[in-house]
Amino acid sequence: MVRIVETSVRDGHQSLFATRMNTEEVLKLCSILDNAGYHAIEVWGGATFDACMRFLNEDPWDRLRAVRAFCKKTKLQMLFRGQNILGYRHYSDDVVDMFCKKSIENGIDIIRVFDALNDIRNLSQAVTSTKKYGGECQIALSYTTSPVHTIDYYVSLAKDVEKLGADSLCIKDMAGVLLPEDATKLVSAIKKEISIPLELHSHCTAGVCEMTYMAAIKAGVDIVDTSLSPLSNGTAQPSTQALCNVLKGTEYDPKLDLDVLRRAEPLATEIVNKYVSNGLLNTKSFEINPSILTYQVPGGMLSNMIKQLTDQGAMDKYEEVLKEIPKVRKDLGYPPLVTPMSQMVGTQAVLNILSGERYKMCAKEVKDYLHGLYGKAPAEVDPEVRKKIIGDDEVITCRPADLLEPEFEKLKETYKGIAKSDEDVLSLALFENVAKDFLRKKYNLDKKEADEFEMFI
Ligand code: CO
Repeated sequence: MVRIVETSVRDGHQSLFATRMNTEEVLKLCSILDNAGYHAIEVWGGATFDACMRFLNEDPWDRLRAVRAFCKKTKLQMLFRGQNILGYRHYSDDVVDMFCKKSIENGIDIIRVFDALNDIRNLSQAVTSTKKYGGECQIALSYTTSPVHTIDYYVSLAKDVEKLGADSLCIKDMAGVLLPEDATKLVSAIKKEISIPLELHSHCTAGVCEMTYMAAIKAGVDIVDTSLSPLSNGTAQPSTQALCNVLKGTEYDPKLDLDVLRRAEPLATEIVNKYVSNGLLNTKSFEINPSILTYQVPGGMLSNMIKQLTDQGAMDKYEEVLKEIPKVRKDLGYPPLVTPMSQMVGTQAVLNILSGERYKMCAKEVKDYLHGLYGKAPAEVDPEVRKKIIGDDEVITCRPADLLEPEFEKLKETYKGIAKSDEDVLSLALFENVAKDFLRKKYNLDKKEADEFEMFI
């Protein structure tokens, strides 16, 4: 039997319409889906946290508590980026600890963590803290292809993940580039070496995902991520209903209640129609994009790059930049193209082409990466490129968070004019400006008053 994690209320709408589903819609869906028999429903993390405050004027913590109240039977799952949590820098261990504690206290059962570089030292605190507060911790390995990202590489990491104490392992194919044959080899090889459950998370962007899921299922994967149709396919996960219909009556039957799924479907249709008509869901998101397999560039990264080039009036350089991406990736030691590495590699490729000289200009984040501040690169960084960007600067080789002092109490002090709970402090620590604007509105704080208070302390 294969178990299913439902993603429509997290990755589904994040991939299809920029995470804009509101809490009311999430609750309506969850209250039905709670009865379907899923392994878990993914409800939180990723961009939901930011989008709630920034675009919907909603408190992400309130959403989580409400979902918990509506979902009495099903485990709730979330996703975050190891030591970065949901932000773009490394946070100290005590902030990671507090985030795990509060997520679990407010209703999360399973915490999925990943690191862009698959440096599992960046995941150890999340595993320790999740378990300390009674949660289940899953480590997700970012899937990509490169000369170093071989089956042996993933098998060896999978063993490390099990040793670290994770409750399960996920192959996270954020770009949707895992092909069926490779899935068969990868899943069989990992299943031979570890005893914790193995999950597969992928996207339909390249049009191959359902075939890959079938291959993985036959090779023994334990759990797959799917999304309730029509909040599925395209840039999102495969359809929950379709997979259930295909597997019904077989040894892999996930045994979800199909009547429950049928009851939820009109609601999902209503939601999709709403976001198509208000323009947030571009139906192009449902199209198959096979070029992803050629360039290995996730959809979100492509749209960012097109925006940067359009802003610079340089769309004529599009093909050149696209060809530069694999070169930058190689120079930087083949990082998987997932946040924040996808932004770094994409921006660097644009700078290399537009400035007319490779690595003449460089973002601060790339410099930090070369200093070792994001962890260990999967392969060796090109020594000449490193020298050109950071000269003979020292490169750290320890776990980056070992260099950080505890900071939660300091953050609490910094935000005491505006935060009314530890949850608020975490919102502010992760998305400072967005959370400030949101919490001022929520608590009817005068902007000036709050600012003066902050200056005073
Ligand atoms: Co995803």
